[in-house]
Amino acid sequence: MKRTIFMTIAIAIAAFGFVRYISGQANSVADVTLPPDYREWKLISVAHEGGNLHDLRAILGNDAAYRAARDKTLPFPNGSIIARVAWKYTPSEENNKVFGREQSFVPGSSTNVQLMIKDSNKYASTGGWRFVQFNDGKRAEEEVHKTCFSCHEPVKARDFVFTRYAP
Ligand code: HEC
Repeated sequence: MKRTIFMTIAIAIAAFGFVRYISGQANSVADVTLPPDYREWKLISVAHEGGNLHDLRAILGNDAAYRAARDKTLPFPNGSIIARVAWKYTPSEENNKVFGREQSFVPGSSTNVQLMIKDSNKYASTGGWRFVQFNDGKRAEEEVHKTCFSCHEPVKARDFVFTRYAP
């Protein structure tokens, strides 16, 4: 009897440790790399952010993400990846010469790339999405990723994605 109790406790501890290990993996971005072809993906929409960011941005989707955004079929299927690419909002001297005033703004240097990767099982604790940021092609520190999901939570009804397809 004692032996059975001991074994049960031992198994419970091991199982608890395993679950913690798995969920730790899910919350970590250590294994995520930038998909080599993301720049070839299709355009879902564009945006301009003012304030400190002061950027121009494009929201791209791999085939699965693009189709779901275009056809408004939610939730996004597993395997969907949305990439948000952004550049400094920069006046174009060349273009402005022909306009005779400051009118044209173009992408300057790249700021960062953010990804949302869908896997409803692996990333269940963050709405089925893995949020990852890359600076100069390198993954940002773990710390940077702590606020991603909570800020996207208000758009839960749209599967945590703010951007709407721009026809
Ligand atoms: C302060 C709130 C906030 C935080 C923090 C935040 N986001 Fe977002 N995110 C937004 C908003 C709002 C948009 C859409 C507006 C825009 O692009 O101008 C957006 C857009 C995106 C998009 C394009 C798809 C969509 O939802 O529109 C991706 C991808 C993305 N964010 C990833 C991330 C990642 C990765 C992190 C963490 C490193 C992050 N976000 C942190 C608010 C936030």
